Amino acid sequence: MDKFLIEGGRPLNGVVTVSGSKNSCLPILAATLLVEGQIRLENVPDLMDVRTMKRVLETLGAKVEFLREQNIMTVDASTVNSVVAPYELVKTMRASFLVMGPLLARFGRAEVSLPGGCSIGPRPVDYHLKAFSEMGATVDIGHGNIIAEGKLKGGIVHLDFPSVGATENIMMAASLIDGAVTVIENAAREPEIVDLANFMNACGARVTGAGTARVEIHGVLSLRPSPYRVMPDRIEAGTLILLSCITRSPLMIQQAPLEHLGALLEKLRECGNVIRNQKDLILVEPVERPRGVQIATRPHPGFPTDLQAPMMSYLATAEGVSVISEGVYENRFLHIPELCRMGAKIILDGHQAQITGVPRLLGAPVMAGDLRAGAALVLAALSAKGNSEIQRVYHIDRGYERLEQKLIHLGAQIQRMQG
Ligand code: UD1
Repeated sequence: MDKFLIEGGRPLNGVVTVSGSKNSCLPILAATLLVEGQIRLENVPDLMDVRTMKRVLETLGAKVEFLREQNIMTVDASTVNSVVAPYELVKTMRASFLVMGPLLARFGRAEVSLPGGCSIGPRPVDYHLKAFSEMGATVDIGHGNIIAEGKLKGGIVHLDFPSVGATENIMMAASLIDGAVTVIENAAREPEIVDLANFMNACGARVTGAGTARVEIHGVLSLRPSPYRVMPDRIEAGTLILLSCITRSPLMIQQAPLEHLGALLEKLRECGNVIRNQKDLILVEPVERPRGVQIATRPHPGFPTDLQAPMMSYLATAEGVSVISEGVYENRFLHIPELCRMGAKIILDGHQAQITGVPRLLGAPVMAGDLRAGAALVLAALSAKGNSEIQRVYHIDRGYERLEQKLIHLGAQIQRMQG
């Protein structure tokens, strides 16, 4: 298992480019299953999760090619000859479950292993399954697999919580119910859902209202291939902005989807940072000692849960007391004990963390417990005094493209070690 060795405290400078969005790309890749014919996707990030989704599509029979250097992936799902997504793949990545909607739509049957529990809480798929059965499928669970089958019908599907994955799965499932209208109420409003809808519509689907709490899907007979460019990754962009702030280094971040970063930028300005933009180029002028702030993570457009951990690293060095409450996941605080090993003062009480800022973190050996916790530790280590060793880098590789190359380019001292 790879680890990072980081020498902290170096000032960084320069320009860094944001890659394509992981959370857009994964559902878009699942949606290629709806289409017969070759689709060319651009700005596909070269990530572990993307490679896992490629394997899922190939297991189902699709022809997939990934030009990793050019970030181009072509998928031809005309050859799909299986509707079974096996445990070996689904267990490593919950987003594999997104193939269920498109398989059900195109073949009337899908068999997908039940995603296991994971380190950030139980994360069930009950909303997805309830929706599929309301849409007319029979849903059975046996031997660790979920088997959904049947002819789908339109209607109103109400989500108890605006789940991102459930909204996407329902949109895809409903897209091929020819002539029927499906309405998702209390839909998730994340920008990645808009990206998925834009891709599907480019292929001839009729999805309206994506990005609002009411999404309407008018089913069509079939979809046709269309090229598509994946949107930039707002979570990576946010992580890089926080990198600039935590290392007190004025960085320029290009291809940043500024319009989707409102909640983060508002809090960083409240801390005292100056953040300006010229089109999709963000310029950060970090404040020397940020003020502590109060944050509650919420579904979009609230503060993103995926930036909670990196934000906590930053606030660990703020003046005064900050409070972060986690409103999306039950247990997304794996980074707290690790940050405390680096000298942070954080007390966890249920869903709420109280952070008393210290002037400087100190390097230490730490372990990444999940993807965003890993990113938080990289930021903390780069700002800290002394050396850090971050274990379990494979979590970080799932979601950040060429992270260490980007950091080295900015002047960071970071080295990947094997074993
Ligand atoms: C997506 C993102 C992930 C992000 C999350 C919330 C992808 C590939 N991943 O995950 O990075 O952290 O949105 O912004 O896009 N839940 C249920 N039952 C369900 C579905 C969800 O109880 O059937 C719960 C989950 O356990 C979690 C919450 O709802 O506590 C949010 O989950 P959801 O919005 O579905 O997240 P994902 O789509 O899995």
